[in-house]
Amino acid sequence: MSTLAEIAEMLAGMSRTDLTTTVRREPYPAISPSRPELSQAGRVVLVTGGGTGVGFAIARAFVRASAKTIIILGRRAQVLADAASRLEEEAKTVGSGTKIVTYPCDVVNTAEVDAVWKEIAAQGITVDVYVANVAKTTEPKPMLELGTDEVWSQVETNVKAPLYLAEKFYAQPGESRKFIINVSTASIHSTTHPGVAERPAYTLSKLSGTLLFQLLAQDAPREKVQVVSFHPGLIWNDGWKSLGLSPDLFDSDELCGAFAVWLASENASFLHGRFVWASWDVDELSSGELRKRFDEDPNWLRASIVGLNQGLRTY
Ligand SMILES: NC(=O)c1ccc[n+]([C@@H]2O[C@H](COP(=O)([O-])OP(=O)(O)OC[C@H]3O[C@@H](n4cnc5c(N)ncnc54)[C@H](OP(=O)(O)O)[C@@H]3O)[C@@H](O)[C@H]2O)c1
Repeated sequence: MSTLAEIAEMLAGMSRTDLTTTVRREPYPAISPSRPELSQAGRVVLVTGGGTGVGFAIARAFVRASAKTIIILGRRAQVLADAASRLEEEAKTVGSGTKIVTYPCDVVNTAEVDAVWKEIAAQGITVDVYVANVAKTTEPKPMLELGTDEVWSQVETNVKAPLYLAEKFYAQPGESRKFIINVSTASIHSTTHPGVAERPAYTLSKLSGTLLFQLLAQDAPREKVQVVSFHPGLIWNDGWKSLGLSPDLFDSDELCGAFAVWLASENASFLHGRFVWASWDVDELSSGELRKRFDEDPNWLRASIVGLNQGLRTY
């Protein structure tokens, strides 16, 4: 296993990216959830794992963007209840009137997921934005040492569960435009990096989950369901804390929340089916040479085999 210093160096390295000249670690005006262009007024947003960490930060940003209702799922009822109080407080502060709904639910358990969607349908609610945020990881070990059952359990949480929720999401009645935000990770393109290499089951399952959403994006046009995967940055959570790392190494969770709101807007439609980082400056991504590359290269920032000719279909 890596030492603390090696992990800290790895984290610092992963925060540097050569894609945009400006690399963000804090929220900034272009992605501010209070911008009228990014308003989520009238929308219902479902966030898996919305009670803590990245999921909570995303839920809070959607409150700030005036979403009508936010549904958060997680296994621990008390964690959800505490998160709901904080989100309701936030809604009061910003005057958004957002309603917060919690469902204790293990997303790997299809019967529990069915019950949630049944309840949502019974209330006549249509979910407009699905944030696939829950993920499972374990201690650093090669897959053959972790064993097939543990590796498969990560695949179940990081691929099967998001697919099952997506199936329910797509099956909803109505023609209104929908959005999927998949919380991915930089680990999927840093597979040989020390610290990433020692958690291959996480990489396998997160890359598979990201490919899953890329392929779902291929099956439905962005005007119907806009789908984007993103790396949220390095966000302080209990897992990082238990390693004894300093919070100073980490990015603002407000950045990933605001970025997720921006992804659920027309402004991000050119990213349909791609993978991006929350730290990339959206003005740079949306214009000039970078934007040209999005428009002209269908393979760029999508999962594939590097180095071979590929089809030129655009979508
Ligand atoms: N934090 C980072 O630095 C970082 C970096 C890159 C990518 N990410 C990605 O960000 C996402 C969130 O990570 P995080 O750091 O915020 O993790 P976290 O703090 O551990 O939060 C995970 C949340 O998911 C819930 N959850 C876990 N398993 C569940 C299940 N089977 N059913 C329902 N809910 C479940 C947990 O609540 P319960 O335990 O109560 O269920 C918890 O609220 C993940 O997709 C991760 O890959 C994070």
